[in-house]
Amino acid sequence: MVYGPAPESASQANEYLEAHGRKFDLFINGAWQAPSCGVYFESISPSNKQPLAKVAEANAADVDSAVAAAKKALPGWVAIGGHQRARYLYALARQIQKHARLFAVLEAMDNGKPIRETRDIDIPLVARHFYHHAGWAQLMSTELKEFREVGVIGQIIPWNFPLLMLSWKIAPALAMGNTVVLKPAEYTPLTALLFAEICQNIGLPKGVVNIITGPGSTGAALVNHPDVQKIAFTGSTDVGKVIRKAIAGTGKKVSLELGGKSPFIVFEDADLDSVVEGVVDAIWFNQGQVCCAGSRLLVEESIAEKLYAKLKVRMEQLKVGNPLDKCIDIGAIVDKVQVKTIDELVKKGIMEGNDVWQPSWPCPTEGYFFPPTLFTNVSPSASIAQEEIFGPVLVAMSFRSHKEAVALANNTRYGLACSLWTEDINLALAIAPQIKAGTVWINCTNVFDAAAGFGGYRESGFGREGGREGLYEYTKLKIEDTFTDKPVLPKVSKSGKVGNASQNGIHDIDRTTKMYVGGKQARPDGGYSTRIKDSSGNYIGEVSAGNRKDIRNAVEAAHANTSWPGMTGHARAQVLYFIAENLAIRREEFANRLVLMTNQSLESALEEVEKSIERIYYYAAFADKYDGMAHSTIQRNVTLAMPESIGVMAIVCPDESPLLGFISTVIPAIAMGNNVVVIPSETAPFSATDFYQILDTSDVPGGTVNIITGAKDELSTELAKHDNVDGIWYFGSKEGCKKVELLAADNMKRSWVNYGKHRNWLDQAHGEGEVFLRQATQIKNIWIPYGI
Ligand code: NAI
Ligand code: MG
Repeated sequence: MVYGPAPESASQANEYLEAHGRKFDLFINGAWQAPSCGVYFESISPSNKQPLAKVAEANAADVDSAVAAAKKALPGWVAIGGHQRARYLYALARQIQKHARLFAVLEAMDNGKPIRETRDIDIPLVARHFYHHAGWAQLMSTELKEFREVGVIGQIIPWNFPLLMLSWKIAPALAMGNTVVLKPAEYTPLTALLFAEICQNIGLPKGVVNIITGPGSTGAALVNHPDVQKIAFTGSTDVGKVIRKAIAGTGKKVSLELGGKSPFIVFEDADLDSVVEGVVDAIWFNQGQVCCAGSRLLVEESIAEKLYAKLKVRMEQLKVGNPLDKCIDIGAIVDKVQVKTIDELVKKGIMEGNDVWQPSWPCPTEGYFFPPTLFTNVSPSASIAQEEIFGPVLVAMSFRSHKEAVALANNTRYGLACSLWTEDINLALAIAPQIKAGTVWINCTNVFDAAAGFGGYRESGFGREGGREGLYEYTKLKIEDTFTDKPVLPKVSKSGKVGNASQNGIHDIDRTTKMYVGGKQARPDGGYSTRIKDSSGNYIGEVSAGNRKDIRNAVEAAHANTSWPGMTGHARAQVLYFIAENLAIRREEFANRLVLMTNQSLESALEEVEKSIERIYYYAAFADKYDGMAHSTIQRNVTLAMPESIGVMAIVCPDESPLLGFISTVIPAIAMGNNVVVIPSETAPFSATDFYQILDTSDVPGGTVNIITGAKDELSTELAKHDNVDGIWYFGSKEGCKKVELLAADNMKRSWVNYGKHRNWLDQAHGEGEVFLRQATQIKNIWIPYGI
């Protein structure tokens, strides 16, 4: 049986475009403003290459006026409070629903995606995002008491889900009291401009939302604008890295949702008919132009041929064509540039000797179409298995054991999503934690909801959109406003240092303290040591001068330690309490060491030790309590938001508070199951080098904490650029922060730096808190079928 066409009318959308003379200006400060350069560019309909409308190209001057409008609107938007903001967001949601069909048709025309998808998925989810975040606006003052808005947010979105990405960006930003300047992608600006009209219609205060169209250079001007306090970006990993580097050291917040090469894993007991439909949704949804597309099919060998055969039958039935035909499964590729990229990668895949299969029918020729394509028997190192194709191309390979499935799944620099197919819930839940990805779908794929966080591990970026976890991207802790430009140092004791080193319990001043790697004391590779002076400039001893090789050994030791990350929170808590107990036993010795280095009074040194013990208790308490959530998503799922450790983290400690600064940073990181490489205070390293004895006697597995002493700048540079370090915290100078953020961008390691601002580590409000745990974890959302 052959389906006839079921065309959706484009007449209303065309009338809408005609009413605007098929030409749109920039939406700035609640009004339409012509671009200052006078240039307009065309957005076409990729299914027939026909121009739809001209849109303005914003240059740096236009970006400036949009940012100025947002800045001016900010105080008023904050002042009206969460409830009023909730009313506006609710009004936006209602308006989107009332104009849902116009949005859906316009989106299908501008992007080329099937109306079936814009009507049933994109636009309903857009409305859902505004409703959900209307709720968060309402709840901000009670649920997020410690937080305030970030300020003016620059948002840059891609073309694959134009209005949906707009809603993911704008809804949480507005809810939390920020104002925004958003730049849609150049191929697909039209629904964003229709959204601007809706903002006008509901009487949204001027300047709260500004929409400026233009190419990458417009985006770059927005990124670099000094009055923008945060950038939220979705797009390619390459541009994500450019952005991370552009704003390094500025203190601007950033969230990056980047590319992927997500695995779709099928175990032999899976329901293969469901799997086939899952694959259709994973890789042929939106023509495969989906950051989290299940583009790598990993199949258990015993069923591989059977599944490929079924898939080919299904692929033969897929319909490619006019997106406005409701019977169409696959629409047009967004632009000829993208078709070319897909085509080149497919040709490369064929040249590299992988088996390729396409349906027998031809694609329409009047637009930019590409047939669904299946590669089988692909080698894991093939370029088509590693590079994001961003098209309807599925790459399949088989596995023999569960271990191999996990290894193949993680054999990528990305980590956005994964889909698991098995009828065995035990197997699914055993595999889910082993996958390095921000989202794991069990027996489903490409499901999204405003209540669940979405975002990447590794080079798929960082930050989450949706859920409570997404709100942290658009808020700032109020306490940060009280951090100081100068470090808080203990008062030098008037009575002077109590005697000499040996009277302070340090009998072996001539000994150069060693470093600590893999649970053993380690001599520095270079054989150098550094002289250390006290706060008055008197020589007090020497530490090992670590170098690149020492860092490499420490990172290797951290990676080799699988026992610590594998322990339960309860077990880790026991070890942390033991550390605290052992430190308490040696409190005088540690206090004396502090006196020796900082010349503070013994009383204040003892206070630093006491606070350190208390802080260890705090994170020990949290080790089994910083748990996840079960998000209330709208599908038939329960969605577990699990905070997982980041992996191997580098921690560059503050120079001040030699003991407490070390404890306050290292302990939360290990409490969450990370292994760490620590650079202690450069000026006062002995509290850290003494600490190995505590670690040795407290059942801490070797490789959990590795301590490398020496030049902070040099060592943190090595750590920031190290490919096997997954995250880095840096407490130091402004310049150091910039360098760390620049270098960390290359493998997209998560970085958390102090931008040269100082905490008073003795002050509980500054020195501890859930923010340390949040920065030591990343959230994985696991979607499990639930209910009927
Ligand atoms: P892109 O990353 O260049 O574009 C995304 C957005 O960033 C657009 O609005 C663009 O104007 C803007 N942009 C470009 N350069 C910029 C810069 N230097 N500073 C600030 N903003 C800038 O992606 P493009 O070129 O459209 O697609 C290329 C490839 O990227 C695709 O083939 C696909 O592999 C990947 N991609 C991934 C997406 C995802 O959701 N993960 C979305 C779009 C593309
Ligand atoms: Mg277009």
